[in-house]
Amino acid sequence: MQVKVVIGTIAFMLTMIILGFAALREPARLEEFTLAYEGRSIENGARLFQNNCATCHGVNGKAEECYDSAGNVVGCKGLPLNTASLLCGDKPSRMVTLGWEGTKGNFVQNTIAAGRVGTVMPTWSAQFGGPMRDDQVGDVAAFVLNWESDAMCGVEAVVFEWPDSVDDFLADYAGDAANGEGLFLTYACSGCHGDLGTAGSNAVGPWLGEIAVIGGDRIAGTSAAQYVYESILHPNDFIAPDCPNGPCLSPSAMPPNFAERMSANPQDLADILSLLLGE
Ligand code: HEC
Ligand code: HEC
Repeated sequence: MQVKVVIGTIAFMLTMIILGFAALREPARLEEFTLAYEGRSIENGARLFQNNCATCHGVNGKAEECYDSAGNVVGCKGLPLNTASLLCGDKPSRMVTLGWEGTKGNFVQNTIAAGRVGTVMPTWSAQFGGPMRDDQVGDVAAFVLNWESDAMCGVEAVVFEWPDSVDDFLADYAGDAANGEGLFLTYACSGCHGDLGTAGSNAVGPWLGEIAVIGGDRIAGTSAAQYVYESILHPNDFIAPDCPNGPCLSPSAMPPNFAERMSANPQDLADILSLLLGE
């Protein structure tokens, strides 16, 4: 799901650029597109849920409060969905109980699409004779999955203490450039910085194909590795001179929250550094 959203976002950005819109220079833009896309899907899913699912699963998915189409209180026939056993962790306990091997997203989406044979849980996807298109099944699944919360799952937000020195960081995390290539896409670096192999393919930020060399000249006494590391974690500490449409703007148009987003997976930054620095 996440990957699809990111790919969708990139495709959308490229279309905007081709159409000649300059709007993409703003900082929070990319993040906003992603959130807006997810937001619309969840919102649409909420409507579908109230109209089709709440009679059995309850208005808040807890199988506590159910009404029939006339608005009378009825007993809930479905299981709770807004619950830790279905939503918490990569392998929630319901998946384990039912022996489901795929991802949690697939588990929820497929159950909705195909229903549960032998129970009153209906089939929803038109593929299996149900009333919904697959995008609608996807939206309602996104709505259900969105009930997952740190509070419900008892998770504390991960905060990684990024070392000041890139050498200290890389001493703990060895980078993998090949993996970095995929991450350069999924974090949408390429959406702004273009293709590393093609000078001039950058739309918003500087082209990074030669950053391993020129990065060492940006700040006196700072190595290219240290510079790139800091550029990603703290884009506003130093503004690069040249962006494709003139001098780079301050504050930086680069999202300021990679330090936070990569906290759960510091390895991602090591892989991206390896890709950019060719080490
Ligand atoms: C007529 C009642 C009914 C309706 C309407 C209904 N469900 Fe269900 N649903 C059930 C029942 C009963 C189960 C449990 C089946 C079982 O025992 O395995 C279930 C199971 C599920 C599960 C799997 C839960 C688990 O823990 O295994 C999901 C997800 C789900 N429903 C989503 C939905 C969505 C989304 C809708 C609306 C598009 C919907 N259901 C509409 C009755 C219903
Ligand atoms: C929304 C657009 C955008 C995204 C997404 C983005 N950047 Fe940037 N980036 C910029 C801009 C604009 C600059 C120049 C301003 C500055 O120095 O912060 C920049 C600067 C940089 C620099 C310094 C370049 C130089 O020539 O000095 C590096 C390194 C960098 N970005 C890496 C990344 C990486 C890696 C990612 C993905 C994890 C990423 N950026 C995502 C827009 C973006």
